[in-house]
Amino acid sequence: MSSAHPSSAMRWISVAAARQAEHIGHDIEVRGWVRTRRDSKGGFSFIELNDGSSLANLQIIASATLPNYASDIANLSVGSSIVASGQLKASEGSGQATELVAGSLRVIGTADPQTYPLQKKRHTFEKLREWAHLRPRTNSFGAMARVRNQLSMSTHSFFQEEGFFYLNTPIITASDCEGAGQMFRVTTLPLDKLPIKDGKIDFAQDFFGKSAYLTVSGQLEGEIYATALGKVYTFGPTFRAENSNTSRHLAEFWMIEPEAAFFELADNMALAERYIQRLLNDVLTHSSEDMAFFDERIQPGLRDSLAAVLSKPFQHLSYTEAVEILERSGEKFEYPCSWGCDLQAEHERYLTEKYIQGPLILYNYPRSIKPFYMRCNADGRTVAAMDVLVPGVGEIIGGSQREERLDVLLARMAEMGLHEQDYWWYLDLRRFGTVPHSGFGLGLERVVQWVTGLTNIRDCIPFPRTPGSAEF
Ligand code: 4AD
Ligand code: MG
Repeated sequence: MSSAHPSSAMRWISVAAARQAEHIGHDIEVRGWVRTRRDSKGGFSFIELNDGSSLANLQIIASATLPNYASDIANLSVGSSIVASGQLKASEGSGQATELVAGSLRVIGTADPQTYPLQKKRHTFEKLREWAHLRPRTNSFGAMARVRNQLSMSTHSFFQEEGFFYLNTPIITASDCEGAGQMFRVTTLPLDKLPIKDGKIDFAQDFFGKSAYLTVSGQLEGEIYATALGKVYTFGPTFRAENSNTSRHLAEFWMIEPEAAFFELADNMALAERYIQRLLNDVLTHSSEDMAFFDERIQPGLRDSLAAVLSKPFQHLSYTEAVEILERSGEKFEYPCSWGCDLQAEHERYLTEKYIQGPLILYNYPRSIKPFYMRCNADGRTVAAMDVLVPGVGEIIGGSQREERLDVLLARMAEMGLHEQDYWWYLDLRRFGTVPHSGFGLGLERVVQWVTGLTNIRDCIPFPRTPGSAEF
């Protein structure tokens, strides 16, 4: 970094590496932020340093004989940034293999203890949301960010190994994939002087020459590439203007959407199961330190419950069977359920937490409650939809086999009041070499929520976007 110390970059290692016994005896440098400082009577200070590379800190021992001890080190406060170098020693204390005996300790940036919010006392998750710029420096959010990183990497590895191509679909779109009318409008029209034609806003004058929105899903464009490349997946941000202040909804969230030609519903369900098992297996093995933290501090028994998911196949229930189970359950639901109703969180949780006690794939939903693109079943009243539900969170995946028959699709669109001309390119996929195909969408934050045990989805994304809140 600094030209005055040309060799320093060479011995700079992460805290995670410096905690490993293999580096004992080496002359190293670490760079990070002070978590605690404790002064001993024997003329030393003990500093716990974190640089984000792991949950655990490195203990640094700074002797009062260091030239800047009285001026800098004795005043070091929580949150300050430092660079320390010296010899890594085997630690005499318990709880760590190594410690750094500082030969030099430079303060890079101080953090005034009177005003730095993250003092040693524990803060509530609600409070930490107000400090989303500082919360990654806490154990919980450092761990969440690393687990989220692992889930993202595992997603790419899994789909690449399965022969799927990574596809970028547009963020700005003119079509409402889910048909739920929850889209954020994108416009450059002057809001104080809207162009009016025939009594209506004239979107022909807008930037794209028509109404445009932030996408709720990359699926429709995913289908275009799946019917050419065979298997694709998207991994991008999606946006929904649903005004629901729940612990599992965000206005901006990240979705992974595989789409595969020649896949039928059963293939789609099997793919979803393999993908979820891969995610769980990877976080349990590669994020073991962070997962131990969530198990101890957030949700006791978490790791065992996730490991149990790996040990047996997912259960499957048709929507019709699920409704019969709910009706027979004797539970007092806020919204009683009968055939044709959209399942509420309370129903999903009963099924997955009490009835199955594990992940559950529900399939063949009533066509009246599902989007236009889902394949109509021969019974005339259901579509080939599938949702994956998990304990604690509910739905983490929604997907389906797609309607590949042009005539059936046209009839369904007409029934739902959708205009053919708005979907001309989507219909072309059925006109030219149509094939059965399927896909699903997995909400990344819902999975983060499940595997960390964090109770609110706002704590499962670095910067949550929710009604009334877009700070940072
Ligand atoms: O079930 P959804 O709406 O499905 C689709 O969007 C399909 N087009 C996907 C596809 O077939 N390619 O959403 C998929 C998943 C949900 O299961 C949930 O995990 C997540 O996206 N999700 C949300 N996550 C956080 N906040 C919200 N508001 C969410 N809405 C959906
Ligand atoms: Mg859904």
